[in-house]
Order: sequence, then C-alpha cells, then structure tokens
Amino acid sequence: MAGPHIVFGAGGIGISPGSFTYTFDTPEKVSSLLKVLESLDIKELDSAANYPPKNPWNTNTLLGQAGAAGKGFEIHDKIRVPYNYETGQVEPSLTEEAMAASTKKSQQLLGVDKVPVLYAHFRDPHTSIEEMARAFDVQHKLGSFDKLGLCNFSAADLKEYFAVCEKHGYVKPSIIQDMYNPLYRKAEDDILPLIRQHGCAFYAYSPLAGGFLTGKVTPPAPTDNDNNNNSDNKSDNKTKDSVLHRSRWRGESAHPVYTQTYDSKAAMHDAVRKLVAACNSSSSAGGGGGGNNNKKITPQEATCRWLLNHSALREGDAIILGASSEAQLVANVAAARVGPLSADDAELRGVLDGLWDMVKD
Ligand SMILES: NC(=O)c1ccc[n+]([C@@H]2O[C@H](COP(=O)([O-])OP(=O)(O)OC[C@H]3O[C@@H](n4cnc5c(N)ncnc54)[C@H](OP(=O)(O)O)[C@@H]3O)[C@@H](O)[C@H]2O)c1
Repeated sequence: MAGPHIVFGAGGIGISPGSFTYTFDTPEKVSSLLKVLESLDIKELDSAANYPPKNPWNTNTLLGQAGAAGKGFEIHDKIRVPYNYETGQVEPSLTEEAMAASTKKSQQLLGVDKVPVLYAHFRDPHTSIEEMARAFDVQHKLGSFDKLGLCNFSAADLKEYFAVCEKHGYVKPSIIQDMYNPLYRKAEDDILPLIRQHGCAFYAYSPLAGGFLTGKVTPPAPTDNDNNNNSDNKSDNKTKDSVLHRSRWRGESAHPVYTQTYDSKAAMHDAVRKLVAACNSSSSAGGGGGGNNNKKITPQEATCRWLLNHSALREGDAIILGASSEAQLVANVAAARVGPLSADDAELRGVLDGLWDMVKD
C-alpha cells in the first residue's frame, strides 16, 4: 500500500538578499529544478506569497516565469501575510479584501486561474476565525482553489474553524500543515487526533528540521580537553561555520524559527549525536548516497524513512522536503524511498522513536 508522499518545498526557490535562499534564483535554474522534480515524479510544489522568506512573491514569480503550472505541476499557494521579522508582528491578512488581493496577484504571477490548494500561512490575530472562514468560502465559490489548507494553527483554533464551517456550510479545510519530524512531534498530541476526525490530511514541513537532522549543525561532543580550551575544537567550530555559511543556522542568514527550536538547545544536539551514532553502528547499507561514500545509512535517510514508514503519517499525508541543490534533492528522495527500516535496523528505529522523549520540554 502506498504511504505518505513527497511534496517539494518551494520556499527554497527565489532569492532574498542576506538570507539562506539564493540557489534557485533564475527562471533557467528553476526550469532545471522542475526537470529533476519531474524525473522524480514529484508534482506538488509547496509555495506561498510570502516566499522566499524576506522577499515575498519572488518564488511565485520564478515559478510563473519557468512555466511550472503549464508543465503539469500542482502549485499549492498561501495567502500573503505581511510579517515583520524583527518584531514578529503580523498585519491583518485573512480579511476578504486582503485575501482577494493576494489570490489575484498569485494567479497573475503563476499564470493560472485557480490553485489546487490554497492555505492560510498562519493565524492572523487581527481577523476572527468566523471572518477568515467566510473569506475563504468566498474565494472557493469564485473558483480560486480546490482544497483549503491551514498552516500553523493551534488545535483550539482548528477546532473553532471546523465548528464555524459546519455551522455556516463554509468550505472545510482538507489539509493541515505543521512542523513534524523525529525531533518535533507536537502535532501527535492534539492536532493529528483532531484532524483525523475531520478527514484532513497532514503535510509535515521541515522533515529534516531544516537540515539539523543531517547532523551538520551539531559539533562533536565536548571532551575534557575542550574544557581546557583545546585548539582542535576551535578549528572544528571554524570548519562548521564555513559549512554553514549562508545557511539558516549562522550569521545574518540565520532564521530564528530554526535556531531557537533546535540549535539553541543542548538536548537537541545530544539527540542528533545519538542518531548519528546509531546510523554509524547500523549494519545495513544506506540507499541514498548524498555524499555517503561508505554507503552507511545517513541521518537524513533514517529520518525520511522513519517519517514515511514508521511515524504518525499515513496514506494521503506528505512530507514537504526542502533542498538547496538538485544533488541534495536527488539523494534525499532516493534515500527516502528505500522503504521501511529493516529488522536489522531495529536499534536505529528505537533511537528514532525515542528522540522526541529526549528533547520535548
Ligand atoms: N507553512 C509553513 O509555515 C512552513 C514553514 C517552513 C517550511 N515550510 C515548507 O516546507 C519546505 C521545506 O522546509 P525546510 O527547508 O525546513 O525542510 P527540510 O527538508 O527539513 O530542510 C531542507 C534543508 O536541509 C538542508 N539539507 C537537506 N538535505 C541535506 C543534505 N543531504 N546535506 C546537507 N544539508 C541538507 C538544506 O539546507 P542548506 O543546504 O541550505 O543548509 C535544505 O534546504 C519549505 O520550502 C516550505 O515549502 C512551510
């Protein structure tokens, strides 16, 4: 039986000065990426008016210039939410008027008159759920989208949203999107049980915790020597800084959602070290390559196979995989599709199952 599928995270398409999105930055590069995605049989692209972070509309502009919709890609869009990265303040965006303006602009840029999925990117605190549900219903009746999605809504807000739709006969959400990976499983507590009652699919973003689960952000465990200011560790950190140059983990391109959720917590680094050690001691061969010359299973392979085969995700759900290069994408998709972890990997599976207990507050 087919399980959850892979969606490509188009948030990495486009360029934002000083930020971590800059690789797929021209229509030609996006066209090349689309060819790779086609060869991998990945048809759904998770886009948004806000993408890439800090440069709204650029992703949809490039997808339109590369003719993605005409090539058969299903572009999932999200309503523009003006967001101040310094203050964290969100402007009113899910009103009928703002929603209509965002929808119209996205359609123009993408060269379409409807998208298969239209999301609220996150909760607009200025607009009541009643008003936003009515506004989405207006767009649905106008034929702007097939399925409604909601991202980053709390279980309480989702509950209210479903109740309002049932009361007024408004279009109900079909897809709920949130962060989900072996280090971040909050959705299992309340969102997943709730949305299953309403027949919604769950799309998991940041399946690799934005790259944290590759192990590249975590330094080796400190040793006694390091406590004595050993110079080797300093050079390790220097190497790490250069590997992470212009990523979401370092310097001006750092993104607070990722640095605060993962990098700033010692338990997260301990969990990744445990996963890396379990991968290194696993006897089974890795399937995805990805610079994996000794053919050991990599942490990204273990993570993707766990998500697709052993997590709370199921048929109809998806992981929204990001990538900053075609090579990364090809390797990760090959690795993800190897299948369930085998009986030989029972120990590794046990480690993946237990990571959340190591890190949850
Ligand atoms: N709805 C929302 O609020 C929301 C929020 C976040 C994301 N999303 C969606 O989810 C998508 C994916 O999010 P994400 O980028 O956080 O996903 P992810 O799949 O967890 O992380 C992808 C990143 O990890 C790094 N990486 C992947 N494979 C690697 C490898 N083999 N070796 C080293 N580094 C590797 C790359 O970053 P570098 O190479 O740059 O380090 C890559 O861009 C976004 O594009 C967006 O569509 C939605």
